Amino acid sequence: MPINAAAALQKQKVSLVGQNKTAVVVGGTLGIGAATARLLAKLGCRRIIIIGRNETRGRTMLQRMKELAPKESDLVVEFVKADLSDSKGMQDAARVIQETVGDAGIDYLIMTQNGTPAGRNIKENADGHDTAFAVQAISRFALAYLLTTHGGLAPNAIVMSIANQGQTLDSLDIDDLSLKAQLKAGLGAPALFMNQSKRDSMVLDSVFEELNVRYPQHRYYSIWPGLVKTEEFDLGLVPGYIKIMMWLGLKLFGTTPDQYANFPVYLLLAPDAQDKLGSGKYFDRVLNPTQLGKWSKVPKNREALWEKLKEIVGVRET
Ligand SMILES: NC(=O)c1ccc[n+]([C@@H]2O[C@H](COP(=O)([O-])OP(=O)(O)OC[C@H]3O[C@@H](n4cnc5c(N)ncnc54)[C@H](OP(=O)(O)O)[C@@H]3O)[C@@H](O)[C@H]2O)c1
Repeated sequence: MPINAAAALQKQKVSLVGQNKTAVVVGGTLGIGAATARLLAKLGCRRIIIIGRNETRGRTMLQRMKELAPKESDLVVEFVKADLSDSKGMQDAARVIQETVGDAGIDYLIMTQNGTPAGRNIKENADGHDTAFAVQAISRFALAYLLTTHGGLAPNAIVMSIANQGQTLDSLDIDDLSLKAQLKAGLGAPALFMNQSKRDSMVLDSVFEELNVRYPQHRYYSIWPGLVKTEEFDLGLVPGYIKIMMWLGLKLFGTTPDQYANFPVYLLLAPDAQDKLGSGKYFDRVLNPTQLGKWSKVPKNREALWEKLKEIVGVRET
């Protein structure tokens, strides 16, 4: 029976007032991230830090969160401008986030930055990788890894990625994460788009499973949002027949960002979440437990990818 997250949060009178919690929402200027940040503000989170590139939207979000917060939460809001398109941007962002948060550490690190698969329109970043892939997947590894290993997280912190989950691209060559060989071979836009989407999901599954194995003192969740009609949702970016599938999907089970935000927030905050959902870390759009994709279940695949991502981001083991 799927969880009715909004009703459960209300029924259990979930509130963060007086708990002195700090949330960092990466990609919090828009869409699912912004809606999640608004709900955390409404529920009394003490401190919320929004990460994104767009300063105007960032400032608007700070104002909106202040309006929504209960007076007694005494909410402190901050915006950190960061571009997660390449390894330098990721390293700078991790450093500035940690400096901004200070010694208390992050209680909830929620990552919703969007790198929509580019199909055949791949743009290379400064490291020579597909920029969309860098934002969607590499930056989630970089921020989670750097903030975990450099003491940026509070004890019992929860790290959450909201993105595709559970797909697999078994043919992936970890020396060609940007799928340049497929682009060069002339693969059509819809097929390349699907493979990029599977690759993103598979890389994130592998990263989150490794995080859970390596750092059991924290919880690392990866959840799929389904189809959410965000402010800038643009079917025009989607090639071929996939556009029709997504249009239909939106009609049948699409949600708004504010409706959807109840699910990640339920998982983060509801006292009965772990009893109801078990110890799994991967969930679908209504918090049914999901499996890792086939490739990600193999430890040696994940370990090889982990080393490759460290090399790409330019981090050393600490
Ligand atoms: N919406 C859906 O139906 C859906 C379905 C499946 C999966 N997802 C996944 O769910 C996540 C959230 O999606 P969404 O629809 O909420 O996305 P969205 O509305 O496009 O918002 C994306 C956020 O990412 C930030 N961002 C984009 N590029 C960035 C960069 N280079 N550096 C830093 N921040 C960047 C944007 O902020 P700035 O513009 O301020 O930088 C914005 O706050 C994404 O990973 C998406 O792929 C969404």
